[in-house]
Amino acid sequence: KIPCIMDCDPGHDDAIALVLAYGSDKIDIQAITTTAGNQTIEKTTNNALRIMTFLGAEIPVAAGCAKPLFRDLIIAPEVHGESGLDGPELPDPAYDAQPVHAVELMAETVRKSKEKITIVPTGALTNVALFLMTYPELKGRIERISLMGGACWGGNWTPAAEFNILVDPEAARIVFESGIPITMSGLDVTHKAYITDDDRELFRSIGTRTSILVAEWLDFFAKFHKDNFDFKGSPLHDPCAVVWLINPDLFTARDCHVDIETSGKVTTGSTVVDYYDVLKKEKNATVLFDVRRKDFVDLLAGQLEKMP
Ligand code: BDR
Ligand code: CA
Repeated sequence: KIPCIMDCDPGHDDAIALVLAYGSDKIDIQAITTTAGNQTIEKTTNNALRIMTFLGAEIPVAAGCAKPLFRDLIIAPEVHGESGLDGPELPDPAYDAQPVHAVELMAETVRKSKEKITIVPTGALTNVALFLMTYPELKGRIERISLMGGACWGGNWTPAAEFNILVDPEAARIVFESGIPITMSGLDVTHKAYITDDDRELFRSIGTRTSILVAEWLDFFAKFHKDNFDFKGSPLHDPCAVVWLINPDLFTARDCHVDIETSGKVTTGSTVVDYYDVLKKEKNATVLFDVRRKDFVDLLAGQLEKMP
């Protein structure tokens, strides 16, 4: 099993990523740290605890930074609702968040683990950047960072920027410059990892409490995408970062140098991916570009079938 820290801002697609990682026999979630983004830190932390409670898990959760490193927080209630995870009812948390900051839980988890840890960030990179700055000596204990963020082409919050990178571009730059191997699931691939109405009904028809919950999250998530984009379904952004760990063969990838724009006039928060290697700089990220969508959906359905 791959020992992981999930750093997330749940969020519907974060929530599905958590369910998938929790249910997978390839992944061992050792800690969950929360970040502000889709909603405020109080709400995303509460959502992480409610998801774990629903699953009957007691994986330690710690709240992270309430704000990006240097900027004001951007939130996304139009996508994820007022709670950050609107839609189906979830139980109240059966346990509390750890009385320590996310960065401390990350450090403790990394120190305790015999194996190197993989970090899976599916929100802004504030906590991960702060962790790397606070504990540079632990960098060598990180196996890889499999993150959802950025895009080689286009944006979803500005024409040039994807939401997670836009929320905290300075943090993103620290992470991309860290030297730790990075897998970047950006919009190039996540827009191809979409879930259609039929897929959603397939999940619902599995008929377990978890599959019905996922289908109901997708009912809510689909509304925003139908109203605002011309996709064939809802892109499952965050689960890509988890599915790549479970089965990288489903994806088409390219190693590239990636830089982050932090001071553009209209492009702040964009990931500048050197697709053609024109700069001949060190390739700091494995960038995902495509996914075998049908197999991606089957993997998800197969996972849900195994869960109560
Ligand atoms: C990312 O933004 C958030 O709203 C989603 O949870 C995902 O992590 C997609 O741009
Ligand atoms: Ca997210």
